Amino acid sequence: MAITQTVTAPAGTLRLSADRPSWTTIKCTPMHATFGAEVEGVDFSKPISESVMEEIKSALGHYGVLVFRDTGMTDEEYVSWGERFGELAPADSRRFPTKNLGDPSNLYLDGSIVQPGELRWYMAKETALFHVDTSYDARRARLTSIIARQLPPPGTGGATEFGDTRTAYDELDEETKLLLEDKVGVHSHFHSRRVALPNFPTFAALDPWKYPMSKHRVVIDHQGSGRKNMYIASHLHHIDGMDEAESSRLILKLRKKVEEPKYVMKVYYKQPGDVVVWDNTAVVHRAGGNEGEGWSGKHVRDIRKWMVYDNTPQEWGLNDRGTPKFLAGPIIQAKHDELYGKEGKVYDFDED
Ligand SMILES: [Fe+2]
Repeated sequence: MAITQTVTAPAGTLRLSADRPSWTTIKCTPMHATFGAEVEGVDFSKPISESVMEEIKSALGHYGVLVFRDTGMTDEEYVSWGERFGELAPADSRRFPTKNLGDPSNLYLDGSIVQPGELRWYMAKETALFHVDTSYDARRARLTSIIARQLPPPGTGGATEFGDTRTAYDELDEETKLLLEDKVGVHSHFHSRRVALPNFPTFAALDPWKYPMSKHRVVIDHQGSGRKNMYIASHLHHIDGMDEAESSRLILKLRKKVEEPKYVMKVYYKQPGDVVVWDNTAVVHRAGGNEGEGWSGKHVRDIRKWMVYDNTPQEWGLNDRGTPKFLAGPIIQAKHDELYGKEGKVYDFDED
C-alpha cells in the first residue's frame, strides 16, 4: 500500500475493505470489515506532534473507533491528550482529582462495588442498549474516550460493543432513506432508562414528555468522512411531527438494523492503560455486559472517560444555542428517594 503524506479523510461512501488510506507515522489494523481499527505507532511517553495528532483525527474520521493498547498515560496526561481533539465537556468525579475526567466505573467513593438493588445498578442498565453519548443534550458531544484503570478478570466480560451506523445507513432500503431525509429525532435521558427497564418503578414514574428533550437530525453528514450517518440512540424518544405509533415503529426498525451482527464489533480492554476513542456521529456503542462467570456486582471495573463537544455545524442540532445542560440524574434520584426512602434499595424488582 502506498504511503501518502496527505491525511485528509476519504470522501464519499468509501468502504474499508475496498480502499484503505494509510498514514505516515501511525499504523491502523482494521478490527472489522467496515469500521474500527487498532492503532500502533503512537509513543504516549513523549510529546505527541501535531502531525501525529492530525493522523489520529483523520484515522478516527475514517474508522469511527480507534483502540490504543497499553498507553501508560496518567489521568492528567490522558485528559491533556483529550484536549487536543477539541473542547472537553465538563465532567467531575469525587473519586479522583483530575478535572474533566468522568467516572463510568462501578465504584463508590469508598471503593465498594455497585450492587444489585441499588439505584446506580439500575441506572447503568441503559448502557447495555446501543446509544450515542449525550444526544439528550442540546449541545451534543462528538467524541468519547475511555481509559482502563482496573479491569475485571479476563473471560468475565466488560467489553464495549460498537455498531457501524454509517454502513447500516448505506444499506437501508431507498424508501426508508427517503423517509428519513428531513426527519428530526427527539432525545430524552428518561426515555432510555425506561426502554432498558420498562417496569422499574422509579423510571416508570417519570414521564419523558414532562421534561426537556433535545432535537437532532436523524440523518447527518459525518464530518470526518463525508459519509452520511444515522444518528440514533436508545435515547431517541420520538420523531418530531410523526404519528406516535409510526414513530416508535420506525425507531425500533432503525435500532434493530444496526444491531444486525454484521454491523457490530466488540472491543475488549486487555490491560490497564488501554484507550478507546470513538466518534458518536459515526457509531453507536453499548456495554458488552457479563460473560462467563460475569463481573458486575463482583469485580472492580474502573474505567474513566472524557468527551469532546461536536464542534461542527450540527453540534446544537435544532436546539437553541446556549441551552443549558439538563440533568435527569438528580430528578431520578429524588423520585427514587421519594418512593424508596433513604436506604433506596429495590430488591423486590424482577428486572427480567
Ligand atoms: Fe455511553
